Amino acid sequence: MSNPALALLEAQHITRRLPEGVTLVQDASLKVERGEFIAITGPSGSGKSSLLYLLGLLDRPTEGRVLLEGRDTASLSATELASLRLKHLGFVFQFHFLLPEFSTLDNVLIPIRRLGRLKDAAARAQAMKLLEALGMAEAAAKLPEQLSGGMRQRAAIARALANDPAIILADEPTGNLDTRNAAAVFDIFARLANEEGRAILVVTHDAELAKRANRRVHLVDGRIVSDTRVAGSENPPAPANPPALPQS
Ligand SMILES: Nc1ncnc2c1ncn2[C@@H]1O[C@H](COP(=O)(O)OP(=O)(O)OP(=O)(O)O)[C@@H](O)[C@H]1O
Ligand SMILES: [Mg+2]
Repeated sequence: MSNPALALLEAQHITRRLPEGVTLVQDASLKVERGEFIAITGPSGSGKSSLLYLLGLLDRPTEGRVLLEGRDTASLSATELASLRLKHLGFVFQFHFLLPEFSTLDNVLIPIRRLGRLKDAAARAQAMKLLEALGMAEAAAKLPEQLSGGMRQRAAIARALANDPAIILADEPTGNLDTRNAAAVFDIFARLANEEGRAILVVTHDAELAKRANRRVHLVDGRIVSDTRVAGSENPPAPANPPALPQS
């Protein structure tokens, strides 16, 4: 069961140095709580993607540690990390990475099937429910190439939500979208945080969109140089039904 006393995700003094000596992230500490919508900003090359991959358990720090609901992930094997990611984390990237030969529905079904908790009918119902919630019901049977850019990215968000993750990590998810579709993606993220109590971490270059998050983390040269909560959102209201993060 989830333990609300523990931060959902926490980086403690993490540094990521490449063997050749390049430092991608330096001594970054961050606590992520349920319901937070965090924008990660900074100049190109400042380490935003690197930090996101460390927080998303896609990469390991060379110093410091990353805790998922209090659990240190350092000693976990690659397989164990993959299992944690599949259950608890959802990823959205600049490119949608939908499989082109799969329908939208089948793309959303991929992580549900990989997790294997639901029988096929229930899995399909879950995928359909997610698409409906994102206004994508009519796109379910279509191939990615038949969708607009905005719809593809919404399909990618539905896929990220497939296993009901407590945390969504997005790296420049609006980088290929026009202003209207970019705003729609941020509306979805705000809803996922405010109404569903998920934690959203989104890397963005767009200062206007970043203002819509309730916390902004700014990086320069691999370091967190500011971490500010928007006034009035210091203590985001506890969601009625926070997504559980079962111990596994
Ligand atoms: N595998 C690698 N080998 C060498 N240098 C790397 C590697 N990965 C990243 N870097 C460098 O590390 C720094 C941080 O990279 P990162 O991709 O995290 O930055 P970013 O803030 O996401 O940039 P952008 O806004 O351009 O996406 C950059 O200077 C980048 O060139
Ligand atoms: Mg990047």
